[in-house]
Formats: sequence, C-alpha cells, structure tokens
Amino acid sequence: TDTHLVIFTPSGKRGRVASGTPVLQAARQLGVDLDSVCGGRGICSKCQVSPGVGSFPKHGVTVAADALSPFNKVEARYDEKRGLAPGRRLGCQAQIQGDVVIDVPPESQVHRQVVRKRAEARDIVLDPATRMLFVEVAEPDMHRPEGDFERLAAALAAQWQIEQVSVGLPVLARLQATLRAGKWQVTVALQRRTDGWKVVEIWPGYHETRICGLAVDIGSTTIAAHLCDLSTGEVLASQGLMNPQIRFGEDLMSRVSYAQLNPGGAGEMTHAVREALDKLIGALAEEAGVAREDIFEGVFVGNPVMHHLFLGIDPVELGWAPFALATSGPQRVPASELGLHMHPEARAAILPCIAGHVGADAAAVALSEAPEAQEELTLIIDVGTNAEIFLGNRDKVLACSSPTGPAFEGAQVSSGQRAAPGAIERVRIDPETRRAKVRVIGCELWSDEPGFAEAVGAGGVTGICGSGIIEALAEMRLAGVMDKRGIIGSAEVLGDVVFAEGRTWSYRLHVSGERVIAVTQNDVQQILFAKAALYAGARLLMDQLGVDHVERVVLAGAFGAHISPLHAMVLGMIPDCPLEKVSSAGNAAGTGARIALLNLSERRRIAEVVRKVEKVETAVEPRFQEHFVDAMRVPHENAPYPNLAA
Ligand code: FES
Repeated sequence: TDTHLVIFTPSGKRGRVASGTPVLQAARQLGVDLDSVCGGRGICSKCQVSPGVGSFPKHGVTVAADALSPFNKVEARYDEKRGLAPGRRLGCQAQIQGDVVIDVPPESQVHRQVVRKRAEARDIVLDPATRMLFVEVAEPDMHRPEGDFERLAAALAAQWQIEQVSVGLPVLARLQATLRAGKWQVTVALQRRTDGWKVVEIWPGYHETRICGLAVDIGSTTIAAHLCDLSTGEVLASQGLMNPQIRFGEDLMSRVSYAQLNPGGAGEMTHAVREALDKLIGALAEEAGVAREDIFEGVFVGNPVMHHLFLGIDPVELGWAPFALATSGPQRVPASELGLHMHPEARAAILPCIAGHVGADAAAVALSEAPEAQEELTLIIDVGTNAEIFLGNRDKVLACSSPTGPAFEGAQVSSGQRAAPGAIERVRIDPETRRAKVRVIGCELWSDEPGFAEAVGAGGVTGICGSGIIEALAEMRLAGVMDKRGIIGSAEVLGDVVFAEGRTWSYRLHVSGERVIAVTQNDVQQILFAKAALYAGARLLMDQLGVDHVERVVLAGAFGAHISPLHAMVLGMIPDCPLEKVSSAGNAAGTGARIALLNLSERRRIAEVVRKVEKVETAVEPRFQEHFVDAMRVPHENAPYPNLAA
C-alpha cells in the first residue's frame, strides 16, 4: 500500500504511515501526545487537530486539499450536534490520504503545559493521579465465566494499556447496573495508587464531568486553597481564610505550648483546622459550580506544626530539641480519615517535611523554585512568621528556618496591619526636608499628589503593611532620620518630623485628619529583630557552604512579592547581591502544592529532592546568635554591601 509523510506540530515528530491511517493512530505510532478519552469513537472530541493546507517550505512539503479524508458519518454527526471549530477535525475519524502537516492544539494534548503566571519559575506539565476514560466492555457470555469487573479490567488493558486495576466495594456494588445502563459502554475515573490503578467512580455511557483537585497551603495565620480542574490544570476557584487555631495561640510555639499544657489540646486544634478546611472545600466547590464529590484529590502543605496537627499528630516533640518529626516522609491517606468531605475515594497527599523546623510548605517552595536545578548560587527566602530559607544550586542545597516572628506581617508594629486597601505600601523620604510621601494599596497616587485623599476614599490611610514598613525604615536610614543602630534622631536635629514618646522619638509618616501614622522606636526594634533573624539564617547557610556572597536572591511569599529589593538590601534583610538578580516568586508554596496536584511524578520527585537537602538547625547553632547581633545594625555591623554602594 501507499504511505504518506505526516508531520505533527508543534512537536515536529514526523514519519510515514499507510494510506487510510486515522490521525489519532498515526499520532500513537509516532509517539505524538494526542488526547482521547473515548478511544476513537467520535464521542469525546478530545482528539481535535488542525490540519494544514498549502505549502510548508520549512517542512519541505505541500499539502493537498484532500490530504485528509472528507467528514465521515461519525464526524459529520458530531459536527452537527456539538459543532467543530472551522479547520478542526476529529483525529480519530480523519484518515491520512496524502502528505500532511497536522497541528495538535494545546487543549488536545494529554500532557499539556498549564499556563503559569509571570512570577512562576517553572512550567507545569499535566499528569495528575486521577484521570477519566471511556471504555467498551465485552458482554457476558454463558461460555465464559469471568465476572463483569474482570471484563472491565480486560477492556482497560486492551483499549488503554491500563494494567493492575482494582476496585473498591462502593463502585463494585454499582458496577453491574451501570454497565447495563450504559449498554456496555462506561466512563470510569481511575486513580493511580502505589500498586496500580483503582476504579474510583463509574458512569454509564460517555460521561462528561469535571474531575477536580485541591491544592492547600495551611499557614499558621491563613489557609489558602485552590480548586483545580485535573484535566486542564485550570484554577476554578481560590479562597483563603484565617486559621481558626489562632485562638489557641498566635504563633507556632504558643500552639505547641497549648498542646503541652492542655490535655486534649492538640486534638482541639486538629479538629479546628479540619473543620475549617472542610468548610473551605464546600465554599470552593460552590464557587466553581462543582459538587464535593467531583473532588478526587487534595495536596496539602504546611509547616511541621501545621502538618502534624492536620494529620492528628501531637506536635509536642517539635517544641524542644532535637525537634523530632513523627514522620518526614510524604503521606497519602483517604481524605475521609481527615474529616474532609470530597469524593468518597478521594485521597489527601501531604508533601514531605524537610526537618523539624522546615516543613512541607518549604518542600512546596523547593518544588516550585527548584533550587537543585539552578546554575547560579541561589538564595530562596519564603518570608512568613517563620522564614524558610534555601541556599544552593545543582551541586548542593541547604535549608533552614529562622524565627522572624510576625513583625513583617504587620503585627507588633504600632500602626502595622495586613496588606489590604488603605495600608501604606510605598514610602519615599525627601533627604532635604525629611518629610515622607506614601502610597497605599488600592490607590495609584502618592500622598503629595492632588486628589490623593479622594482617591484613597472614605476609609483613609489605615496603617502600614509589611513591605511598607521595610521601605519606611530603609528610607529613614537613607534620609538620616535613623542611624546605623536604628536609633531615631531627636527633634533638635530633625525638627517637627519627629515627636517624643516617653524617652524615645517617633517619626511621623503620614497624617490624615486625626490619625497619625508613625514609626516608633519600638517598631524599628521589632523590624530589626525580624530582619536580623532572616539575615542570620541566610548567613548561616552561606557559612555552611563556605561562600561569602550569593548570585541570586528569590523572595517568596505574599510579602516577598511586594517588597522592594533595593529597600530590603538597604535595611540589610538580605545579603548583598546585584539588584537585578533579586526577584520575587509570589506564593511559591501554593504554586508548589499545585504542581504536586497536577503532576504525580513531580510529587514523587520532590520526596527525593528533599531527602538530599542538607538541613541546618538555627536554634542550636551558636553562630546564628553572632550573626543575629551583627545584623541588628543597618544594614549590618560588618558585612559589605558593594552592590549598594554602586
Ligand atoms: Fe474521542 Fe476522537 S478520540 S472523539
């Protein structure tokens, strides 16, 4: 028989196939990723392709108008009922009759790349643990004794090369009725388990539904969750809420003490977080317009204390050296065991912890930012109440966590507040007059521009957020309002931009009506403690690696996303580094959780990566204290900042 040249784009894969070969089959032969849920029956439309016509000098072919067979009955019926976009063909129906160039659009690829936002470092390739397939099962026969499930398993092996299939009782109980209702055609949801595949849901005939998954970052203050469509990677809904454990203690250590001091205290906190998560799942499902039962998988990350409490493990051992984790390995348990109402067979995967202070949230940051794949020596800092810090490159990666406290989130700062409309986020101080102008979240104007008050609105300027306070302090240092020790100058030197409060001076940042937003001496102290802890953690890793500078800095976390690299460096939060090499990664922990949800091999790989990360324990390292004391200066007692001088 005749053969024809077929070239697939964008992969560029090419080869010769026999005349009359359907495009889907040609794709399979040449190893081209072309989706199909119905197995070529013209039902699912996942196999859509865009054939080219005319000359393709780049590929050295000219494609005739009749290079593909005309619409057959199945394709015509599909087009009539559901409509095919112009130029699109069903790959399972169109047959190759001449040399042809065929484009596989992104939505027709199984392992398509999920489009990521600008700040994200790596692409996500879809390969989730749960998938849906349409299958035709042989009817029973008096002469063959196998059961309906065995015939379903055989059909999955023959039509989809899926081996080692198991089934649980709930699906088994409905299997016979469903097979007959679907006239021996069914759609199944299959979930990859360590020992093969499990049929977790079954529907009669060809069934279209969203199969969803959750990516959740359980922070000590807030819980943030995304609901994703597992077959497209699309985020269907995102929501956050306060972690209700706050009523047992603001920070991690106070929650650990609550567990130590109160019998049943750990259980109360476990209950609180699970209950909040279950509510959040309901809210996400509602926002996305899906049922809880459509959610088949969840990936959860959190620091070690959150990790333990979520799993129902008492975190007392994390309260003292040597900070032993109950387990550092990845976990995958039935979601129902965690009190989460999703699909009855849904699984909850919890990423591995790195060390007693470096949790699954840090593992998620590593998954998103891939320190182990960097050429340049990269410092990654996820700023929160604890800062998780990585330093490394291809050769080696070190990690630690540093107790920065909640000052960067606006707590312990007199006018501090969370990043929300009305909060000061940008500050500039005139070095001559030493007066400040500010910009607030939700408003484009500076405070000295006409129309500022109207633009800010009735709420007015309400306080200062974490990134705002960093800028304020750095600008105060640059304008000489505050000295190297962080002491705010007196009115004799500075005039009326400062006012006395007890025995110290406060700097007036913004006045609106009655409200004065100022930086007090105590505010400066709190921020210096936090920044010194951050710097000392980074420095400790540098010592351990035997380096005196880093080539790149990545700031992760909501706070890191808004911080100005220049001001962070003026303040000495981060070690010296060329300014253009300081970037922000946004919510890297959330991104990492999403990668783990959408790609099972990535989830498995990160367990390997974190095993190889070298952990450094800041709490027991005397040099941490030394670095901390030196870093209480602005920018630092003795560390050089050549990039600032330039
Ligand atoms: Fe389902 Fe072509 S593979 S329509």
